Amino acid sequence: MPESAMTVGEVTPLARFTTLGVGGPAELWRVRTLADLARATEAPFRVIGAGSNLLVGDAGVDERVVRLEGDFQTMKDAAAALEEGATDLWVGAGTPLPGLVRRAQRTGRSGLEGTLGIPAMVGGAVAMNAGTRYGEIGDALREVEVWLDGALHVLDRDDLALGYRSCTLPKGAVITRARFAFTPSTPEAVAAAMAEVDAARAGQPKATSAGCAFKNPAGDSAGRLIDRAGLKGLRVGDAMVAHEHGNFIVNLGDATAADVLELLETIQARVDVPLEIEWERWNA
Ligand code: FAD
Ligand code: EPU
Repeated sequence: MPESAMTVGEVTPLARFTTLGVGGPAELWRVRTLADLARATEAPFRVIGAGSNLLVGDAGVDERVVRLEGDFQTMKDAAAALEEGATDLWVGAGTPLPGLVRRAQRTGRSGLEGTLGIPAMVGGAVAMNAGTRYGEIGDALREVEVWLDGALHVLDRDDLALGYRSCTLPKGAVITRARFAFTPSTPEAVAAAMAEVDAARAGQPKATSAGCAFKNPAGDSAGRLIDRAGLKGLRVGDAMVAHEHGNFIVNLGDATAADVLELLETIQARVDVPLEIEWERWNA
């Protein structure tokens, strides 16, 4: 194991590590090796991926926040394996999903195209079973490796009870790697499937956000319901319901978690169907 270069418990505003740009301070443990991870998880902790589905409170969190870097980012190895013709591979949990999706397309590997445009890390995408109506990460997932109670364990995808934006991991488990099985295809066919997903995302805002704020109620779209209630453009401080899509809350610059929460509650009160928040809430 190489000498650790881990930044040990640097207190940092989590706003810098969430795509919504909101969140107070925490001890950030940027782990680069398994030995780092073992040390970082000796005290109460949470795991952050790309922070693209997180609402972190303005007071931050007391637990250590573990971010998987270094050995856990295996894009180069995954790209090389795909180039060599592999269809079944382990990918580190700290690897950015968009890069993996792009590489799979270029090498004509089908299985992840439904997740095009999701700005997650592989671990966070599995933890949320991220996807679109064109496919979820769970479709190509076969196994996950997790760090739990001081050891590595391998879990089958069927042990994870994958559902709509949900995955049941054992409490305290950190996903370290995920194994994907791709179907051999052609770059052209995968690109064509991706073009459909891309078109479905065309109406989503480009501004700072954390994706959809609410889960879709069965058979409907939260965005459509929020739009129908006339709430686009509704604003609390610098948090605003996007003009482009009712289920996106955008940060116009200096939004706080308190602003975002007040906006979420207002939306829930003004839409006549109960809406469940999709984001993971950390002390918020
Ligand atoms: P984070 O947001 O950092 O964490 C989410 C949860 O996963 C937390 O509970 C965290 O503790 C846990 N977690 C993270 N990594 C690990 C790990 N290694 N081990 C254990 N637990 C872990 N989502 C969709 O499903 N479909 C979409 O179409 C979509 N579009 C989006 C578009 C935009 C512009 C944005 C900003 C977000 C979008 N999202 C979408 C939401 C988000 O990208 C997904 O929920 C994604 O899975 C979150 O991954 P992450 O790495 O950012 O995880
Ligand atoms: N609609 C409106 N007004 C709006 C938004 C949507 O009328 O402001 C209508 C659309 O015209 C369409 C319907 O509602 O007829 C569905 O809209 P869209 O195709 O945008 O899909 P969605 O259900 O709003 C879901 C996911 C997205 C995912 C897209 C593409 C959820 C909560 N949202 O959105 O996921 O990217 O489909 O497949 O499941 C996320 O989870 O963070 C996310 C962005």
